[in-house]
Amino acid sequence: MVIFKKVSDLQKFISLYGKGGHDIGFVPTMGALHKGHISLIQKSKKENKLTLACIFVNPTQFNDPKDYEKYPVTIENDIELLEEAGCDLLFLPDVREIYPAGTRQERKYDLGYLETVLEGEFRPGHFQGVCMVIERLLTIIKPHQLYLGRKDYQQCMVIKKLTELIGLDKIVKVRICPTLREKDGLAMSSRNMRLNDEERKTATVIYKALQNIKETIRKGNTQTVTNNAKKLLSENGFKPDYVEIADAASLQLINDWDGERKIVALIAAFLNGVRLIDNMELN
Ligand code: PAJ
Repeated sequence: MVIFKKVSDLQKFISLYGKGGHDIGFVPTMGALHKGHISLIQKSKKENKLTLACIFVNPTQFNDPKDYEKYPVTIENDIELLEEAGCDLLFLPDVREIYPAGTRQERKYDLGYLETVLEGEFRPGHFQGVCMVIERLLTIIKPHQLYLGRKDYQQCMVIKKLTELIGLDKIVKVRICPTLREKDGLAMSSRNMRLNDEERKTATVIYKALQNIKETIRKGNTQTVTNNAKKLLSENGFKPDYVEIADAASLQLINDWDGERKIVALIAAFLNGVRLIDNMELN
């Protein structure tokens, strides 16, 4: 695997390679890699000549500075995992490479409704920061395909919208990949590293809550199932930000389900200061 730290070196490589980013599958990450990330690398490897991963803990998307400071960094292990997976290229920039003019936002992305609900509501500015870094990376690389995990359901929709806003939607194909889970159902996440043994066992309650919703939801009012899920989470020591049912395509929140629309349940909850999110398609 070839590692690039400088934008200029990476771009030189890409242009020498001949076809711009045409043969490149791109997997952006913030490191602390796990099998969920690696599944994106594997998918990209199947579908592209070259797979490029990026590890960059993006400061502009952390609305809570403590969360940024505590974000796990395991770079040596990450490189090993990427090598094992057969990843071809790794971009490992520092903050000045990504934000040469500083991290202040110059352009506001008009994400509309998407930024007002769920993660948008509870993490103000978060998606603006995600768009800042992804615009920069896509402009540098112009990959043929971009690989994202469904675990971050709303982020996938935001990044799709971003590609339209910056006119790259015809150039970069967004590929959304399934959520990888631990044996007990917990969605793999870099933040799981911050849980102690007991918290790690409790964390699976999020998955149970989603499953309960899936099993019990019926046409009509959805409030009872979401309230039951909130209760289950609270009883197990979580502080939920939200438990919502939403239209799977638009993320419009649904309180009264017609029994037919494609819907998804989404949860965000704190467990002793660690914020976990997960979602499940319900039909
Ligand atoms: P990060 O949390 O490192 O995730 C990188 C990619 O891995 C995202 O597309 C995420 O959805 C995917 N992913 C995480 N856990 C997964 C799992 N259990 N199964 C499958 N895919 C999973 O998301 C980010 O970083 C950042 O916001 C980023 C897009 C890199 C911008 O900074």
